[in-house]
Amino acid sequence: MKPVILTGDRPSGPLHLGHYVGSLANRVHYQQEGWKQYIIVADVQALTDNYEHPHKVHDNVFEVACDYLAVGIDPSKTTIFIQSQIPEIADLTMYYLNLVSVSRLRRNPTVKTEIEQKGFGDAIPAGFFVYPVSQAADITCVKATTVPVGEDQLPMIEQTNEIVRTFNRLYKKEVLNEVRAIVPEVARLVGIDGKAKMSKSLGNAIYLGDSADVVAQKVKSMYTDPNHLKVSDPGQVEGNTVFTYLDIFDTRKDEVAELKRQYQAGGLGDMVLKKRLTEVLNAFLDPIRTRREKFHNDKTYVMDMLKQGTAATREVTSRTLQEVQDVMYLKY
Ligand code: TRP
Repeated sequence: MKPVILTGDRPSGPLHLGHYVGSLANRVHYQQEGWKQYIIVADVQALTDNYEHPHKVHDNVFEVACDYLAVGIDPSKTTIFIQSQIPEIADLTMYYLNLVSVSRLRRNPTVKTEIEQKGFGDAIPAGFFVYPVSQAADITCVKATTVPVGEDQLPMIEQTNEIVRTFNRLYKKEVLNEVRAIVPEVARLVGIDGKAKMSKSLGNAIYLGDSADVVAQKVKSMYTDPNHLKVSDPGQVEGNTVFTYLDIFDTRKDEVAELKRQYQAGGLGDMVLKKRLTEVLNAFLDPIRTRREKFHNDKTYVMDMLKQGTAATREVTSRTLQEVQDVMYLKY
């Protein structure tokens, strides 16, 4: 049987190169394989840590949709939907919450890390704390079989499968199916500061919509080898962000290998490398930028596309909810 794929993003900001290498490129690939694919724009999940800024989340739903279309997601092949507009997800979340203990949620490594990162202390919003359960509802409402995710999301899939097993056992019918996670090879891209991963909150991202000038500026500020002071000094390639990016985005592999050799021997300056990377990134981003601008100027088209995707998704989720309520005696 062909896989049913569910992927998605929190619309807390526009998408960047990290999203591209980590997931967007793969989504275009799955689409070309002819697999059934849903993309969830997880605005409710974005609200769990942005509830004070609903307007920001609202605006970013449009921005993220423009990013999808710009990289080549084709709405006639892939169904994009808005989480908050699928009431079945909220229903399923309430039912699933009974099947999960507070201590189990507390042990979820992703939630744990995020709670520390966001500095909630003792005041963890309950909605944030239970978002893995809501994510299980996202995944199961369309009966997804396959969820491509970054490494950090694996605990979410594990928790989803626990809920699925508990549900089927308790209500004595295989209504829900377990899902398989796929972790793409290039799971994450370091930020321009060379630290951890590219992310909006760390302020180290290059966005798909960044202008050529902004890209040039960001590459200029990129982390290289802090000990490479003079052009004649031998430089380090490992951990050098410019080379990390060239490895991913520069298709002329032989030339990159030669540049690495020169850099390590000494005599190759950072500016030469950065100029090359700027050109490579801008050549890559140019067509994406052009398409993005076109969609950004046609908000009616983009929002209609989301509405249609959401309506098509509801046809499936309403059936799932029906089946769930049937076995839970929620039928009157
Ligand atoms: N948790 C994901 C993120 O932080 C977004 C997301 C919400 C998601 N629901 C999902 C991802 C379902 C995969 C499947 O980016």
